[in-house]
Amino acid sequence: MRQKLVVGNWKMNGGFAFNAALLNDIKSGLNQANCGVAVCVPAPYLAQCQLALSGSKIAWGAQDVSAHESGAYTGEISATMLRDFSCDYVIVGHSERRSYHGETDNLVVQKTQRALAAGLTPIVCVGETLQEREAGQTDVVVSRQVNAVLEAIDVAEVERIVLAYEPVWAIGTGKTATPQMAQEVHASLRATLAKKESGAAVKVQILYGGSMKPDNAQELLAMPDIDGGLIGGAALKAADFLAIVQAASGGR
Ligand code: 13P
Repeated sequence: MRQKLVVGNWKMNGGFAFNAALLNDIKSGLNQANCGVAVCVPAPYLAQCQLALSGSKIAWGAQDVSAHESGAYTGEISATMLRDFSCDYVIVGHSERRSYHGETDNLVVQKTQRALAAGLTPIVCVGETLQEREAGQTDVVVSRQVNAVLEAIDVAEVERIVLAYEPVWAIGTGKTATPQMAQEVHASLRATLAKKESGAAVKVQILYGGSMKPDNAQELLAMPDIDGGLIGGAALKAADFLAIVQAASGGR
């Protein structure tokens, strides 16, 4: 049985005072969480997170990682540096990185490999644009994105990844995939995983991301292949984030 997982992706938001209040409110409101909880914060605040969250039930991570191990790569942050701050997770291949920073499937693969090699759990994001959905290309696009990763990693590593289905048209737009639409893609992602490793396919958590909020979380999380959420906007408000955690805790 898969445990549900709720991850906040703070994107480029926050500041010392804001983070301190948000982390404190999340920590103190998290009494009955019966699911995994994590926050992926801007890299400069990893130390603050480590201090605030050590010993709590909340894990933390970064939003990107370098494809390189170390060396002359100005501005990059390596996977081992993230481990130095006790990160458990790192988001790779977010659509904002793919579209604004030109990240290719191949680069996402390299970042995933670096994360795995350093002992991090990569949260590998996949998702189609509105144009691709309207052209009936959703399955083709997300299977291409996930297969690129699956072909490059060992069978034993498959169960060490988390997948996130984030339809690009639903991110930050207030438009959410219906539970049925999301479930269809999640089921197809699980079938793709099963072709690589059937044992791992039942273990890998597949999160949904894209305008998940307290008022739609429960019905999305009730779907058999939706194992949690990758939350943007609603992760910046403790009450909203906690309500989604609660919805995930009441699930299977
Ligand atoms: P929103 O929840 O703001 O739509 O963002 C989703 C997302 O991109 C999480 O990674």
